[in-house]
Amino acid sequence: MSTPVKVAVTGAAGQIGYSLLFRIASGELLGKDTPVELRLLEITPALKALEGVVMELDDCAFPALAGVQIGDDPDVVFDGANVALLVGARPRTKGMERGDLLEANGAIFTAQGRALNDHAADDVRITVTGNPANTNALIAMSNAPDIPTERFSALTRLDHNRAIAQLAAKVGAPVTDIRRMTIWGNHSATQYPDLFHAEVGGRNAAEAVGDQSWLENTFIPTVAKRGAAIIEARGSSSAASAASATIDHTRDWLLGSAQDDWVSMAVRSDGSYGVAEGLISSFPVTTAGGGYEIVQGLEIDDFSRARIDASVAELAEERDAVTKLGLIG
Ligand code: NAD
Ligand code: LMR
Repeated sequence: MSTPVKVAVTGAAGQIGYSLLFRIASGELLGKDTPVELRLLEITPALKALEGVVMELDDCAFPALAGVQIGDDPDVVFDGANVALLVGARPRTKGMERGDLLEANGAIFTAQGRALNDHAADDVRITVTGNPANTNALIAMSNAPDIPTERFSALTRLDHNRAIAQLAAKVGAPVTDIRRMTIWGNHSATQYPDLFHAEVGGRNAAEAVGDQSWLENTFIPTVAKRGAAIIEARGSSSAASAASATIDHTRDWLLGSAQDDWVSMAVRSDGSYGVAEGLISSFPVTTAGGGYEIVQGLEIDDFSRARIDASVAELAEERDAVTKLGLIG
């Protein structure tokens, strides 16, 4: 058997972790023939619960699971990590302002960025799921000067998958008929799910829908506010779907995505499409060989431009807020 790939997961005893770990261990991230060693990080009070999750992982007797280590010290848990899935974050609690959340999570992601910088493997790839995901990724990246910036990403694949599902239901097509969906901007209510470049069975999706009012007043808000709708219905935030999207995002990044299609990933902007360089913003990307490229040359009309700009403006505000807090240089 080949050397196991070390996959670190933070917030491993949380809701998303409870779905994510079993899917990684069963081979859905890297394939059933690739051995995986799980490195699980939690805060000290959650370690006991995490021990219980590890008992359950043992009890599945997954053939690809070569080992599990748990701990509360990122320097130890991230040692030699090839993949880091940063899920753990402080949830917003009653009376907390957005700035308080940025500050609380900023402390987590500065420390984890430094620990990855000093201890992760040279080929490490990092996916941030914990909210506010884009800005947390920016903080981690800014605190890891030795890791190439293109190794940091944040999750907008859940939004991408939600957009595919909504469009498929509207036009009565299977999800497999839908290609070239794009989420632009922030993983927040300002995100812009773009139907103008998407396709249904090879046909332009906006034309196939043929209903600008649905696109504007139903599709975009449904996708953008889906996280809140799930919290309202379930009493807690999306977990299995977030874990599934974290797998989709990271698997496609590591192993490549379908030919003639693209996926949405929040990555460091190189200035493409007028998105300020350095922000972690969602783009359409193609992936191959463990890398990604932002799809170039898409025409952006005024409708799309205004929505992309609004979401990017929010990202710039978040960056300015964490800069003021001294979390990024
Ligand atoms: P949860 O509260 O169930 O679990 C989070 C876990 O993180 C907890 O077990 C907690 O102890 C742990 N944690 C906190 N600080 C930590 C630290 N410094 N190091 C390691 N672990 C730490 O939350 P959840 O439902 O699993 O969600 C996790 C995060 O993912 C939240 O921020 C949530 O908002 C976010 N989320 C993102 C998306 C997305 O699409 N990007 C979707 C759903 C949820
Ligand atoms: C989601 O999109 O489901 C989550 O990011 C919502 C949240 O605020 O946790």
